[in-house]
Amino acid sequence: MQEKRPIGIFDSGIGGLTVAKAINRLLPNESIIYYGDTKHLPYGDKSVSTIKRYAKGISSFLVKQNCKCIIIACNSASTAAFSDIHSLFSNTIPIYNVVDPLVEKIIELDYNNVGLIATKATVASNVYKTKLQSKKRNINVASLATPLLVPMIEEGFYKNEISSSVINEYLKYEPFNTIETLLLACTHYPLIKNEVEGYFKGKVDVHDSTDVVAQWVQKELNKRNLLSEQNLAQHKFYFSDITPAFKVAAKMFFEKPISVTLHDIWV
Ligand code: DGL
Repeated sequence: MQEKRPIGIFDSGIGGLTVAKAINRLLPNESIIYYGDTKHLPYGDKSVSTIKRYAKGISSFLVKQNCKCIIIACNSASTAAFSDIHSLFSNTIPIYNVVDPLVEKIIELDYNNVGLIATKATVASNVYKTKLQSKKRNINVASLATPLLVPMIEEGFYKNEISSSVINEYLKYEPFNTIETLLLACTHYPLIKNEVEGYFKGKVDVHDSTDVVAQWVQKELNKRNLLSEQNLAQHKFYFSDITPAFKVAAKMFFEKPISVTLHDIWV
């Protein structure tokens, strides 16, 4: 019976829908409960203690919704709060982050010179660099905080001249001249993946945490006998704040019509 329980996924806003979409594509039998904390977006500019507080509140909500696992589909929350969330809830349900699957992929592909763009919180945490260097001591990791990108994407500015000039300006960062791969270490950034690839003209492999996370979760749930075998998937998308522009953006992120529900767990 329990394998029919939904997968819980959360992010500060709509970025985590890129992960939800990949999960839905790979695991179409799985129901998803998504929570986007749009009231507190962006997390990437907040302190570690604040991000932890938000991540704990949402994880408690997802546990109460009877989820069979939680995916922290936000790099800022994964880097700031995963250890705490894991200690608090992993006795009850498995907790997954978006960092480990991408780190594993980069090690498997055996790169030596890695670039990374992310929010200020993710870059300041140094979590990617620490995890990559713990598995491959001499790997070089050049990280750049790109805080304009999340609000730009949330406002629908991608695949246009404004996004191109912002992206190009950031990617001129000198340490990126010698990288073999660039990690899009923010779940909003898959929306600008083509533009980033275009900037490097095929000379740099660009990786994000969508399909790698979906594959990781598939493997983990399979190991625990938690995959759903019946095609009865029903999704719920909750957000702590909703504006009309946001509804349009949410549909673009998930690439399927979704019905969004306002549910403020903070009142
Ligand atoms: N999607 C979040 C991440 O992966 C970024 C958005 C934010 O700053 O809240 O870090």
